[in-house]
Amino acid sequence: MFTKEFYQTNIFITGSASGIGQAQTIAFLEKGANVLGMDCNNLEETINKAQGLAGNFIPFQGDITNQKSIREAVNKINQNYGAIKILLNTAGILDNYATSLETSEELWDLVISVNLKGTYLVTNSILPQMLEEKIGIIINMASIAGMTVGGGGAAYTASKHALIGYTKQLTYDYAKKGIRVNAIAPGAIKTPMNAADFSGDGEMASWVAKETPAQRWASPEEVASLTLFIASKQADYLHGSIIPIDGGWLSK
Ligand code: NAI
Repeated sequence: MFTKEFYQTNIFITGSASGIGQAQTIAFLEKGANVLGMDCNNLEETINKAQGLAGNFIPFQGDITNQKSIREAVNKINQNYGAIKILLNTAGILDNYATSLETSEELWDLVISVNLKGTYLVTNSILPQMLEEKIGIIINMASIAGMTVGGGGAAYTASKHALIGYTKQLTYDYAKKGIRVNAIAPGAIKTPMNAADFSGDGEMASWVAKETPAQRWASPEEVASLTLFIASKQADYLHGSIIPIDGGWLSK
C-alpha cells in the first residue's frame, strides 16, 4: 500500500523525545525518511531507538514556543537535506484535568502557548518552503478533547478545540496551493503523558479502558501507523479531516 520512495523525504516532527512523537519518528525512519525530531527534552532515547534504521535522524533539543529555536531547527534540516515536505505537529502538554477555577493564569498561558501557539509558530516557519515547492503535508495532533469534554481540563480542552479550528482554517487557506492539512484525534494512548493514570493501583487506567468501547488503551505505534497512512499518496484527497483513533470513545 505504501510506496517506499514516497516516505524518503524530509520530515519535521515535534514532540519526538517521547510517546506518540517518538513512535512517529521511528515509523518514518523505518521507511527511510530524513527526520528532524524537535523536543524541549533530551532526545537520547529516540536517538538510541533510531540506530540502525533506514532513514537519517537529526535530533534537536528546543522549545516550540521559541521562534529562534524553531528557526535553528528548520535551518538544520534544510541545510542537510533540503525543503521539508511533511510536518507533524505532535508536541503537547496536559493540564492535569484542572477545571477553570483550578487553572492558574500561568497554567492557562503555558498550555495554550505549547499546544496552540507552538503549533502555529512551527507551521509558519515551514509553510513558506512548502508553498514554494507547491507540496506539503501537515498533521496536527489534536485529541478527542478537541471534539468533546472530559478528555482534559479547561485549558487542554480549549487548546485542542482551537487546534482543530486552526487545522480547518489552514485547509481553507492553503489546500488550493498544494498543502494538505489534517488532524488526528487520539483517545487513550499509553504514553508517559498518562503515567499518572497507571500509577498506584492503576484504578484510573482500568476505568478508562472499561469506559472505552474497545476496552483497552492503544499504543503510540498505532497512532504512528495512522500517521503513515494520512501522509501517504493514497490519502491524497484527505483535506481538513479530524480523524479520531479512540477505540470508539466518541461514538458513546
Ligand atoms: P508525551 O508527554 O509522551 O510527549 C509529548 C512530548 O512533547 C514530550 O517529549 C515533551 O517533552 C514534548 N514537548 C512538550 N512541550 C514542548 C515544547 N514546548 N517544545 C518542544 N517539545 C515539547 O505525550 P504524548 O501522549 O506522546 O502526546 C503527544 C501529543 O498527543 C500531545 O499533543 C497530546 O496532547 C496528544 N494526545 C495524547 C493522547 C494520549 O492519550 N497520550 C490523547 C490525545 C492527544
